[in-house]
Amino acid sequence: MNQKIIIFDTTLRDGEQALQTSLGVKEKLQIAFALERLGVDVMEVGFPVSSPGDFKSVHTIAQKIKNSLVCALARCTEKDIDIAAAALHLADNFRIHIFLPTSEIHLQSKLKKNFDQIIEMTTHAIRYARKYTDNIEFSCEDAGRTNIDNLCRIVEIAIKSGANTINIPDTVGYTTPYQFGKIITSLCNRVPIIDKAVISVHCHDDLGMAVGNSITAIQSGARQIEGTINGIGERAGNAALEEIVMAIKIKNDILNVYTDIKHKEIYRTSQIVSKLCNLPIPTNKAIVGENAFSHSSGIHQDGVLKNRKNYEILKPENVGVKEVKLNLTSRSGRAAVKYHMKEMGYQNNDYDMDKLYKDFLELADKKGQVFDYDLESLAFITTQKKYVEFFKLKNFYVTSNSAGIATASIQLYCGKKICTYSANGNGPIAAIYSALIYITKVPINLEKYQIRAKGHNPNTLGQVDIIVSYKDRNFHGTALSADVIESSVTAIINVLNNIWRSEQVIIKKFLKKYNHK
Ligand code: KIV
Ligand code: ZN
Repeated sequence: MNQKIIIFDTTLRDGEQALQTSLGVKEKLQIAFALERLGVDVMEVGFPVSSPGDFKSVHTIAQKIKNSLVCALARCTEKDIDIAAAALHLADNFRIHIFLPTSEIHLQSKLKKNFDQIIEMTTHAIRYARKYTDNIEFSCEDAGRTNIDNLCRIVEIAIKSGANTINIPDTVGYTTPYQFGKIITSLCNRVPIIDKAVISVHCHDDLGMAVGNSITAIQSGARQIEGTINGIGERAGNAALEEIVMAIKIKNDILNVYTDIKHKEIYRTSQIVSKLCNLPIPTNKAIVGENAFSHSSGIHQDGVLKNRKNYEILKPENVGVKEVKLNLTSRSGRAAVKYHMKEMGYQNNDYDMDKLYKDFLELADKKGQVFDYDLESLAFITTQKKYVEFFKLKNFYVTSNSAGIATASIQLYCGKKICTYSANGNGPIAAIYSALIYITKVPINLEKYQIRAKGHNPNTLGQVDIIVSYKDRNFHGTALSADVIESSVTAIINVLNNIWRSEQVIIKKFLKKYNHK
């Protein structure tokens, strides 16, 4: 029968401790609610002794979270344990997670203690913590590099002292799946009372093996997996929980285990963590990256349109991603172009496919990625208007100061007319954006603004890529310049021109409907 894997999330402890600026209580609470909706069994939400701020957030989260077990970290000292218990005590149910290094290198150069002293500290700390709760997890820090005889010894002592979850961290991401699996197997075979505790694993990704090691540990007997959303954490990060959870689901026939995670919440949770932690998700990241469900080459796109299973082992909607994306680039075939036209509601006889495909390839060669609104203009706007830039920058003047007030004065060609406006904002981008909206009267909402350096000193250029929403549709703009303010102005103008062209299609459709020329 399938056994359950307990999902232990440490985004708010191990993940958060690696951020450049720590999160406030409000942000942590927002992430905790997202994790609760996702259905994690245990969430480790801080290390209360480390700072008053950490104490406060653990204390707040402990009172609000009802459907996941809340846990906090403590070293093997009475003070750490008292403070962790004080932070947690208003929770309906809580766990104290105690850790102590067990590897020779940590003992010698960090703690300057011998293994007998470590055993003594472990026994005392676990017994002491039991006065607050009987839900105790004990972690052998750097277990991946700990002598296996010592590891078996301390695990047995920890269970005898009252720990009911034993965590085996590969703290420095040093092991390979085969090695790590063998550690778990040895514990199962050599610790006589191992069945009195749940074996947990906690893998770091220094060699890119955190997820592989966690999955092998399941096959060797681990029943709790620790990790973080998007794999955030110390150095190269922790095991990415979304990857482990989906591997468990997709490889159920081999692993014979399940989790209680609500898979459809995965994408939303990942986005929340990325935004609040200010850590962008790599485009090609498994499960939650922007390209995880995008198909680019003509052969793949054709294959997916015939049967999604040709190139998809999991359905995007199963992790809460709304749609499969067929990127339109010069590698796309006619099938992808037709698919996008159909998605926008056009029938084959509404447009000339041969001509559209020829124009599409020409534009894709120039522009890289083509969007659905580009296809529409190619299909329906006359050749003269196709590449017209209705809005053109004549001049701009932008100032900002340390009081947080910026002003943008912009002169813009709107067709043949020159329009001018000055606007304020709490930063230069906000001021530019307001001035351009006022002039063009196009009510756009800025959804994404990204600035990247291109090239090397002294010739670095600033590329600005933006996405705006307008009438329930996303439009993209991009610009490159040595002056990032100029790239910002021209990227917004670029998007406004894309919208203008798209509006020409709508006007044309309207005129056609009422038989005007
Ligand atoms: O990586 C590690 O060893 C840890 C422990 C505190 C569990 O984060
Ligand atoms: Zn860790």
